[in-house]
Amino acid sequence: MQGVEASVTPWEVKGEVDYDQLITQFGVEPLNDELIGRLSKHAGAVHPFLKRGLFFAHREFGDWMNSYENGTRVVLYTGRGPSGQTHLGHLIPWIFTKYLQDAFGAELYFQMTDDEKYLISPDLTREDIAGYTYENILDIIAVGFDPQKTKIFTNLGYSRHIYNIATRVAKHVTFSTAKATFGFTESSNIGIIFFPAMQSAPCFLHQELEKEDAHVLIPCAIDQEPYWRIARDVAPKLGYRKPAGIYSKFIPGLGKGGKMSASIPETCIFLSDTEAEARSKIKDAFTGGQPTIREQKEKGGDPGVCIVYNYLFSLFEEEDTKVAEICNLCRTGGIMCGECKRMLAEKVASFLRDHQKRRGEARSRVEQFLLRE
Ligand code: TYM
Repeated sequence: MQGVEASVTPWEVKGEVDYDQLITQFGVEPLNDELIGRLSKHAGAVHPFLKRGLFFAHREFGDWMNSYENGTRVVLYTGRGPSGQTHLGHLIPWIFTKYLQDAFGAELYFQMTDDEKYLISPDLTREDIAGYTYENILDIIAVGFDPQKTKIFTNLGYSRHIYNIATRVAKHVTFSTAKATFGFTESSNIGIIFFPAMQSAPCFLHQELEKEDAHVLIPCAIDQEPYWRIARDVAPKLGYRKPAGIYSKFIPGLGKGGKMSASIPETCIFLSDTEAEARSKIKDAFTGGQPTIREQKEKGGDPGVCIVYNYLFSLFEEEDTKVAEICNLCRTGGIMCGECKRMLAEKVASFLRDHQKRRGEARSRVEQFLLRE
């Protein structure tokens, strides 16, 4: 990855991402201990994603919690672009959104951008996307959101409401702003040029449907942030509050460098993978370990570059002492890469078993969650 200039947009993340630099570039704030403390107090526990620094930045998250504390309605908004099976990376913002929903008892609006993925993917048909939309919704339900408080909608299936707001947003966004924000060119199709208004629209959906003031918080990875610049710009012009945001880093793929991305399937753990598939991908994961066992014992490994350690640290090992022990053993040559891979594979297999069971049960519950016209 060295030598590739880093760039983060909603449609591409390339190069080595420097998160401190992104904070400056996007004009967001780092999540500090005070905010983490306040959030954890409301939730009753510090989420491991906060402890391990996976959620790292925000926009006006403190103001959003002020709204909650002052009795203003707070709601959550997040989404998924259904262009393939869900992978572990997508799950990060959703797991965290559930934590927020539980902590604040907030309603959640969940947008499926079936229009976006049709417009942007040269090879996907509307039928392909309809299939992925259904499959992805099962994964979303399997995360455990409250059916009373969670409304999932697809842009094509709920277009009357979304398009209605989107046209009002779009009227205030020039092509020049859209080009600068999203990198559109002369050859971009006109559908995708309008699309940022469709993704901004749900920031105001609750207010429109319920005819009440609400403060919206968007949990997502940092790649989606450009949309919220547009939404925040337009909000006061339409008479709404600006949405707040809370942003995660990307979990990497199993290869050397780069975020987990479905475009490199062999480095991705899909939630639909069989146990055997997941185990085999983990076996081939990049660790940066020494070429021989003897050298590994002599020189030790480098957890700082190891993807297997990264997954254990970020997602699969909650015990602080256990993580510290693995880190130390690796550095001093006390543990071989194969052992760490086996440890991770066990945890991933058990996670997939549980998720796929909940996913199966979700089939009969889809209607409970869907917003229809
Ligand atoms: P999509 O489907 O690409 O991604 C869904 C969510 O997953 C996050 N994400 C990741 N998080 C951690 N590690 C990764 N490797 C990783 N890859 C993706 C994304 O940031 C996103 O939060 N256009 C959007 C769909 C959308 C949306 C929204 C997302 C519509 N409205 C509101 C967030 C909030 C998309 O295609 O996301």
